[in-house]
Amino acid sequence: MNNTYTDLVHQTFDFPQQDFHVKDNYLQFNDVDVKRLIDKYGTPFKLTYLPKIGSQINKAKKMFNDAIKRNKYDGKYYYCYCTKSSHFSFIVEETLKHGVHIETSFAYDIEIIKQLYKRRKINKETVIICNGFKTKAYTRNIARLINDGFKNVYPILDNKNEFEDYKRSIRSKDPVKIGIRIASEEEPTFDFYTSRLGIRNRDVLEFYVDKIKGNDKFQLKMLHFFMNKGIKDDIYYWSELNKVVNLYCQLKKICPELEGLNIGGGFPIKHSLAFDYDYNYMVNEIISNIKKVCKKNKVDTPDIYTEFGSFTVGESGAVIYSILDDKMQNDRETWYMIDSSFITTLPDTWGIGEKFLLLPINKWDKEYHEVHLGGLTCDSHDFYTSEEHINAVFLPKIEKEKGSEPLYIGFFHTGAYQDQLAGYGGIKHCMIPSPKHVVVEYNKEGVLEDWLYAKEQSPQSMLKILGYIR
Ligand SMILES: Cc1ncc(COP(=O)(O)O)c(C=O)c1O
Repeated sequence: MNNTYTDLVHQTFDFPQQDFHVKDNYLQFNDVDVKRLIDKYGTPFKLTYLPKIGSQINKAKKMFNDAIKRNKYDGKYYYCYCTKSSHFSFIVEETLKHGVHIETSFAYDIEIIKQLYKRRKINKETVIICNGFKTKAYTRNIARLINDGFKNVYPILDNKNEFEDYKRSIRSKDPVKIGIRIASEEEPTFDFYTSRLGIRNRDVLEFYVDKIKGNDKFQLKMLHFFMNKGIKDDIYYWSELNKVVNLYCQLKKICPELEGLNIGGGFPIKHSLAFDYDYNYMVNEIISNIKKVCKKNKVDTPDIYTEFGSFTVGESGAVIYSILDDKMQNDRETWYMIDSSFITTLPDTWGIGEKFLLLPINKWDKEYHEVHLGGLTCDSHDFYTSEEHINAVFLPKIEKEKGSEPLYIGFFHTGAYQDQLAGYGGIKHCMIPSPKHVVVEYNKEGVLEDWLYAKEQSPQSMLKILGYIR
């Protein structure tokens, strides 16, 4: 037989790959034998492979530091973890083990910061970059942190009024480090021209001169920008970066304490086995472009900060489902019904048409065919029918014989944003429960261990929220 799923993968991609290989027709995700976890916990479950987080952080640090050396760039690189991509304690604490700074987005993030401090995971020197359009509760919490002696909290001004809040509420003896976010221009294909976040590029200099310069309580230390479409090798990214660095240079000439450029998040991750993105090239171009513009303006180069979310946690995550049955709804379309819902477990597939890396866990020696994947809710959009590299989904055929193993499938690199968007626990569409969550990590002896972070959500937890149980 040369039309097995294994044949299909070998004909289409370079395979095996660093994080995926097959052993005895069962898929291995990094060092994890997924079938063993299925046997132990049962599907559906979410999986976090924690070691991937450290390796991503170290990979980015190495790439930026190598590029800094190669370009003889006079500035340092700092990796910040953007908590909004996954707030779970075991994720944030894992990132901290690898020497990251933290980026926050909302008032409640500051409660996380306080807990991390209580648990001695951070100290008052830890760099905390506070982004977002801020509510009063958020600016108040930021001010409290600074008043409590956290020395490296950087409120990043999203608008001019925010600054007034800090002027009123911060009582630090030392000057407070602040940043300004520059509203970036988006690609012409986007729904609007300019981001709603940040201050207009052309207003920044005047705002600095009028409001910040000469105020001994504050020092402008950082300029920040973030492009919604991410860090891509296209004209829009390079022209935006160029504009921001030019503004940095103009400001630096009148604001000598300015020393950091924060280029936000936006590194892509692998959503297909065909993924091909030259991270090293991009990092090198970023560093050399910044240096070029600074040199032209005769200005010292800034320290570089990034705030990678997807890149940090995305590739550590997976969701594993069983195929409950197949349904032939006409002569051409076969539906495979999963034992959960795409809408409730992978909301990006439904909300923004995101594709994730989909692979079967077993039956790699079986014939494949084209299928549609369906979720358990009654919503007509609870489906998944195309992949990043092809407008179709191919999976092994199901065997109907009694006693044969069900087909198990995995959506990989799902670790960023999905729980934050779906809401963890709570009420779900058609009351489909949040699945179990299994964490895999190396213990002190270097042995891979798995543990259950959360059980499947119970009906009682939903009935309580709905007011049936008090
Ligand atoms: C200010 C800021 N920084 C970082 C990020 C993280 O982006 P990503 O997950 O694409 O790396 C975002 C995402 O929305 C953001 O708004």
